[in-house]
Amino acid sequence: MAPPHAPHQGSMKPPRKLHIKSYGCQMNVYDAQRMVDTLAPEGFIETKTVEEADLVILNTCHIREKASEKVYSELGRLRLVKEDAARHGRQMSIAVAGCVAQAEGQEIIRRAPVVDVVVGPQSYHHLPQLLAHAGRHGRALETEFPLQDKFSFLAPPQPEAIRARGISSFVTVQEGCDKFCTFCVVPYTRGAEVSRPVARIVDDVLRLADHGVREITLIGQNVNAYHGEGPDGRSWTLGTLLHRLAAIPGIVRLRYSTSHPRDVDDSLVAAHRDLPALMPFVHLPVQSGSDRILAAMNRKHTSDDYRRVIDRFRAVRQDIAFSSDFIVGFPGEREEDFQATLALVTQIGYAGAYSFKYSPRPGTPAAEIRETVSAAEMDERLVRLQQLIDSQQSAFNQAAIGTTVDVLFERAARNAGQLVGRTAYLQPAHVMASSDIIGQVLPVTIQSLERYSLLGELAQAADARPMPPARSKVTPTQMAAARMTPPQITTGA
Ligand code: 5AD
Ligand code: SF4
Repeated sequence: MAPPHAPHQGSMKPPRKLHIKSYGCQMNVYDAQRMVDTLAPEGFIETKTVEEADLVILNTCHIREKASEKVYSELGRLRLVKEDAARHGRQMSIAVAGCVAQAEGQEIIRRAPVVDVVVGPQSYHHLPQLLAHAGRHGRALETEFPLQDKFSFLAPPQPEAIRARGISSFVTVQEGCDKFCTFCVVPYTRGAEVSRPVARIVDDVLRLADHGVREITLIGQNVNAYHGEGPDGRSWTLGTLLHRLAAIPGIVRLRYSTSHPRDVDDSLVAAHRDLPALMPFVHLPVQSGSDRILAAMNRKHTSDDYRRVIDRFRAVRQDIAFSSDFIVGFPGEREEDFQATLALVTQIGYAGAYSFKYSPRPGTPAAEIRETVSAAEMDERLVRLQQLIDSQQSAFNQAAIGTTVDVLFERAARNAGQLVGRTAYLQPAHVMASSDIIGQVLPVTIQSLERYSLLGELAQAADARPMPPARSKVTPTQMAAARMTPPQITTGA
């Protein structure tokens, strides 16, 4: 492939407009930003309007349900937009990125002539060359797993881009997964586990903190399998990395997602004990409460192993809360297996959780199992599980009423004069306040709950804790454009 991308400094090209539509997980949200950053030096600026775009990128997700069919129907719609642009003398390019691109590469080229570029998640740093290649030769496809670390070549975000994205940012620390759960495509679409070196992650976080970011969520398909090279030449764990990042001035909150129960080591538990910046909210998917199903899923842990992991966290931080992912209707799941899942949920008590009906992913071992659960049974189990989870989530949110909790303020809310921030548990909290407090963590007394949002007022100004030293300040106008961290959308682990 062509050499790593170098910015076209002083290029006289007129700006071109780029529209990215991202599906799925946090990793895709982050990757979309990296693609924008990599194409910015090529003269691309982002647009929200697909009709005015010169380049449309579909950043696809392959994790659940008919993912590729959805991509083809979206491409059908885009074909009309592209043809309309051509009638007006404008050339529009279309790229398919993400996990469907990885899984279906050639098939997309064959089935969708409208597509100019197909690019897998490991090759985003080659986007400029792939577009140039497509411009000259018609189409371009790259879905290999190159040995080089793509992160070393992806352009860092410009200060304006960081500020426009708000005070909360994702940073990828690890990609891929070696666990091979039998239902999951991730090991095939994202490849083997690769961890970024500590120094690179620290550089990224320093740059983000310098331009107003206050909260970092470290992401990876199996984030707590992190084993990146430290400055001492040794392999660092996620816990050690979190200790290092907590020392960066301006970073007031740290999170990580998504974790695998098997990879929770003592350093991660110790990080929750020792680091006030590490939020006491852990997304720890279990998928099922039945040991028989967990074995068939190749999860490499039992339900008791999972309970013990939860206990280790709870022993060091009493206020820690958990969320999880569940699959109902995995092939061979009987009523008693499902009962075991309900029993586990009842015992753990979640602040929230995602539950999905099993859907076979082509190429995964579970897709070969013939003993399937009927659609009606799956629907019924999903409803029962979601009712239980919803009741736990409501109780968790209700319990905040009347308490005073720390809120990191993110942006202006829809109602004039109101700001929105997030609690430690990612609950949105609304207060009437001046936008100067955006980027600060302040105590809020919670008065009521409206659906999933907490409403409250700033606790006595005298109680307000001073901000840790920030090296730059985010202005209200920058923040008005800032997007809120999406609620945890999960992938992997
Ligand atoms: N069917 C249903 N749910 C799935 N997930 C992953 N693969 C499948 C599948 N084939 C869910 C898991 C995972 C989450 C990101 O998506 O619960 O944790
Ligand atoms: Fe890996 Fe998670 Fe997928 Fe299992 S479910 S293979 S741990 S990404």
